[in-house]
Amino acid sequence: MEGNIGVFDSGIGGLTLLHQAMVLMPHEKFIFYADTDHVPYGTKTREQVMSYVDAVIHFMVAHDCKAVVIACNTATAVAAEFVRSRYGSLPIIGIEPAVKPAVAESEGKRVLVVATPLTVHERKLRKLVERVDDEHLVDLLELPGLVEFAEHREFVSDRVTAYLKEQLSGYELDQYRELVLGCTHFNYFKDTFRALLPAQIHMIDGSLGTVRQLMRVLHSRQLLLAPVSETSADWEMIKNDICVRYFASGREVVDAERLEMIRQLHERLEKMRKI
Ligand code: DGL
Repeated sequence: MEGNIGVFDSGIGGLTLLHQAMVLMPHEKFIFYADTDHVPYGTKTREQVMSYVDAVIHFMVAHDCKAVVIACNTATAVAAEFVRSRYGSLPIIGIEPAVKPAVAESEGKRVLVVATPLTVHERKLRKLVERVDDEHLVDLLELPGLVEFAEHREFVSDRVTAYLKEQLSGYELDQYRELVLGCTHFNYFKDTFRALLPAQIHMIDGSLGTVRQLMRVLHSRQLLLAPVSETSADWEMIKNDICVRYFASGREVVDAERLEMIRQLHERLEKMRKI
């Protein structure tokens, strides 16, 4: 069925999820909205984030979206229930830290969940951990600095490495099996994480699970443009044909320089997807 799939985040982190959606649903039309006027969300109050998210969903409805993905763990934790109750029949799918699969795969070893301060302190994440962490294996760590680095497109540098080394220094990493990337901005740093973490630690994030959930919801409402596919399309084959419009806090991105920057971010995410 016609209509756009709206994907949004506070900033460039949500491209992680958009990218995943593009390779699984290359026939769809997308609107990507980065709330650049208000990034970062993770250090704001709940009330501020709720009002930002409400404004974005309003925008998505006005732009003919048949479903909206909150490609931001922080916004999902704070505002998903609120906007679902306000926007009735519109499917609103949120991303949350992949704690459940991480605990299931950890084989009794520890799990480290990294996210924004707001996500870490939200009841939603605390309740999720309580539900699945019978053996008290899960630790939570705030990494707001990574959102700042990402927004400045500083993905690989001595400063990023030093920041992560410092933040991880209090953990006996040999005891861990899973690292949950609980903020969509963090996927840009998978190569640096990989270089710093012992080989036995596996990284996991919620973007694939969220896109699969989106596909199930669209399928059940007969809103998909093409049959559900389990296999990802080859990025090189599809990247120039995808129908997508980009917005920065409601203003369409049209200048060539910024579109080129987004193109480069997709190329980086394609590399990160394979780590
Ligand atoms: N990318 C967002 C998340 O997944 C939030 C980053 C921020 O704005 O603080 O939590």
